[in-house]
Amino acid sequence: MPNAQPTLRLTCDDAESTREVGAAVGRFAPAGTVVLLQGDLGAGKTVFAQGVGRGLEAPTVVNSPTFVLVNEHLGGRLPLRHADLYRLDDLDLIAELGLDQAAIGGMLLVEWPERGEGVLPADHLHVQIVPLEEDVAEDALDASPRGLVLTASGEQAELLLSRLTEQFAPVPA
Ligand SMILES: Nc1ncnc2c1ncn2[C@@H]1O[C@H](COP(=O)(O)OP(=O)(O)OP(=O)(O)O)[C@@H](O)[C@H]1O
Ligand SMILES: [Mg+2]
Repeated sequence: MPNAQPTLRLTCDDAESTREVGAAVGRFAPAGTVVLLQGDLGAGKTVFAQGVGRGLEAPTVVNSPTFVLVNEHLGGRLPLRHADLYRLDDLDLIAELGLDQAAIGGMLLVEWPERGEGVLPADHLHVQIVPLEEDVAEDALDASPRGLVLTASGEQAELLLSRLTEQFAPVPA
């Protein structure tokens, strides 16, 4: 039987704990790291990306790049490029963005990566974010649990995932 892809499953009870997982990615990631952020509208992909920016100590605010397609945040430990493919349904157009090169010397985050299947880097950490509660009350919008499933494809992503596993789900001594 082939080895299962290395996976880390976490529960984040509020937006800040999702940001903390992103921040660890920002602290540990080597240059060239690609993170694909998958989840429905409002799942928490941009919140995770904000954490990555914090972990990299990027001086600019990470927000939704929906209207510019790719935001660049310079001045942190590594240059961060943050793409949102939500509005793009033309694979040729997505290929023209050159995202397969965008992580070189820095980090690339992609929201709605399913739109770009086939033209995104093969070595990547896939982060799926799933709300664990339905019908969240208005006053609890920032604190509703999410399940995060982090899956590594490729050697570089596997190394990053093993550091994250040590940090968030250490093997008991
Ligand atoms: N556990 C949690 N983790 C992440 N976000 C949470 C959590 N609980 C509540 N939230 C809230 O959910 C919202 C997530 O919004 P965010 O913009 O990150 O979603 P998104 O996945 O990027 O959506 P879109 O597809 O529209 O870009 C934020 O308002 C955040 O405060
Ligand atoms: Mg978003």
